[in-house]
Amino acid sequence: MKSQPRLNRERAKELLAEVDLLISRGQQPAALRKNVVQLLNLEPTYSWVGLYLVKGGELRLDAWNGPSPTTHTSIPLGKGICGWAAKTGRTEIVSDVSKDPRYLQCFANTRSEIVVPILNGGKVVGEIDIDGDMVNAHSSVDREFLEALATKISKFCV
Ligand code: SME
Repeated sequence: MKSQPRLNRERAKELLAEVDLLISRGQQPAALRKNVVQLLNLEPTYSWVGLYLVKGGELRLDAWNGPSPTTHTSIPLGKGICGWAAKTGRTEIVSDVSKDPRYLQCFANTRSEIVVPILNGGKVVGEIDIDGDMVNAHSSVDREFLEALATKISKFCV
């Protein structure tokens, strides 16, 4: 596939400002989560974006945006990249999903993935899961950006 421009710091700053704007509108939490996911999916390297919430001891898909739905609408903690990030509370960047035995496949075109836990009061309450169509689509810029975003939206994920 053609190489896509990765997220840069300037764009990350703009996106965080857009999220602040969405928050300032005072929408219902579910609507805000939907809008955030939609906004993220505009990024070229964010080909599929999902927001999972921890409910009943597992991850449940809450909002998503992308070309097609996933069959992984609930994921046990510890399973897949998603379940791993939720269990450890740490961001996972997988630059080549074909080389990671934990990977649960959703889409044939996915080559890389980043999963960022959403913490509230020290507890994982959800996560942002992003698939990329090229190998090595995400960097520490994405990590910092998405971790800042997760902090901003955490109170809307409980
Ligand atoms: N690939 C994920 C599963 C979720 S889908 O990407 C939407 C994983 O390995 O946990």
